Amino acid sequence: GQPQLHYRGPSLYLEDCRLSDLAAQHGTPLYVYSQAAMLAALEAYRRGFAGREVQICYAMKANSSLAVLQLFARQGCGFDIVSGGELERVRAAGGDMAKVIFSGVGKTRAEMRQALEAGIGCFNVESEAELEVLNEVALSMGLRAPVSIRVNPNVDARTHPYISTGLKGNKFGIAHERTLAVYQRAAGLPGLRVAGIDCHIGSQITQEAPYLDAMDRMLDLVEAIEAAGIPIGHLDFGGGLGINYDGEVPPAADALWARLLARLDARGHGGRRLMIEPGRSLVGNAGVCLTEVLYLKPGEQKNFCIVDAAMNDLPRPAMYQAFHAIVPLERPDARREPVVYDVVGPVCESGDWLGRDRPLAIAPGEHLAVLSAGAYCASMGSTYNSRPRPAELLVDGSQAHLIRSRERVAQLFENEHLLQGDRA
Ligand code: LLP
Repeated sequence: GQPQLHYRGPSLYLEDCRLSDLAAQHGTPLYVYSQAAMLAALEAYRRGFAGREVQICYAMKANSSLAVLQLFARQGCGFDIVSGGELERVRAAGGDMAKVIFSGVGKTRAEMRQALEAGIGCFNVESEAELEVLNEVALSMGLRAPVSIRVNPNVDARTHPYISTGLKGNKFGIAHERTLAVYQRAAGLPGLRVAGIDCHIGSQITQEAPYLDAMDRMLDLVEAIEAAGIPIGHLDFGGGLGINYDGEVPPAADALWARLLARLDARGHGGRRLMIEPGRSLVGNAGVCLTEVLYLKPGEQKNFCIVDAAMNDLPRPAMYQAFHAIVPLERPDARREPVVYDVVGPVCESGDWLGRDRPLAIAPGEHLAVLSAGAYCASMGSTYNSRPRPAELLVDGSQAHLIRSRERVAQLFENEHLLQGDRA
C-alpha cells in the first residue's frame, strides 16, 4: 500500500533512494519519509475538493517533524493542533497562524492565551466548561475568540475502540442534543465569535458510511442553529480517513469527497466554506522505519527476531496490537528458507513487539523496514529504557535530507539534577 516504495532488483527503494545505503550511512533505527508520497496524498484531497473553498488543516499529531510541517505549510495547508507545543511547532515551521485550528478537550488558560496572541483561526471547543473559560480568557485580553463547537454526532466509525471518538461514550465533543443550547450560549458571550461547527468521528476509518452519517447529522444541526439566528461560517469534518496497513481498502480521498460533496450539494449546502483535519492519510504510507536484526533466537513455541527498534520508537503494535508489514531491505537469495518469527525490540517488556508470526529469511546484521510508519510512529515515540530517539530523513528523488538528527544520550538527562550536598 505504499506509493514510492519498491524493489529494484534485490534492493528496497523509497523514491530513488536505496534504503540499505541510508541505513548504512545514518544508522538504525531510522525513519525515512517520501516527500512525493506526502504530496500525492495531499493532491488526492485537492482533486476531491476541486472548485470548492476548503482549508486543509493537517493534524500534526500524526507526524510533527518541522520539515514535514514546512512541506505542508508551503503547500498552503493550515494545521490542526492540540497543545501549546504544537502551536510553537507551527511557528517554527513557518506556518500561517490564521490557518490554525486548536482542538482538544483539555486546553489550559495559558494555551488559550498563547493561541489568542498568535491569532489562530479557530478554537474547536469540546465542552461547555471550556467555552466559559475561553470567554473569560479572551475578555481579559480584550479579544473575541473565534469558536467552533465540536459536535459528537454519535456515529460509529467502526474502528479500534481507542481511536473511535464520535460515540456517546467518548470524552470528545458536545452531545448532539446539547449543541443548539451551547451555540445559543456562545452567541451571547462577549468574548466569543461563532465561526463554525466541527466534528471528528475517529481514526483509521475505512468505510464511507460513517462519514455520510456524520455529515447528515451535522447538517441537521447547522440548519437548526441557523434557524435560531446564529450563522455558521465554516463546516469542519475532521480527519480520520484510514490507510492500507494490511490489505484494508479505505475509500480514496478524492472519491470519498466527491461523494460527500454530492450529499452536501443535495442538501443545499454546496456553497459552504469547508475545513478538514486529516493526519494519517497524508503521511502514514509515506514513511518506513529501518531497523537492524541483532539476534535470532529460536524457541520451542516461538522464534524471535530481535531488532534494534522497539516499542519506544514505534509504539503502535504495543499500544493497539496494530499491524505493520515488515520486509527486508535486501531480498534474500531464494535458496534461503523463511522462518516464522515474532519481531521484537530490546525493551524489557513482553509487549515490546513490532510484528508477530512473520515469515522472514533474515540473518543478524541485515536490515528490515517496518512499513506504513509515517503516522503516529515517530510522533508517539518515547525514550523509555533511556533509548534516544531515532534520526529522521525526508527523501526527494535521489536526495535524502536529514530532518532530525539522532538524539544523543546526554540530551536525555540534560534537564535532570543530582541531589546537592554529600549526605543521602
Ligand atoms: N482531528 C482531531 C480532532 C483528532 O483527534 C485527530 C486524531 C485528527 C483530526 C486526525 O485524525 P487522522 O486523520 O489522523 O485519523 N494514535 C492513533 C491515532 C489517534 C488519532 C487521534 N486523533 C493511532 O496510532 O492509530
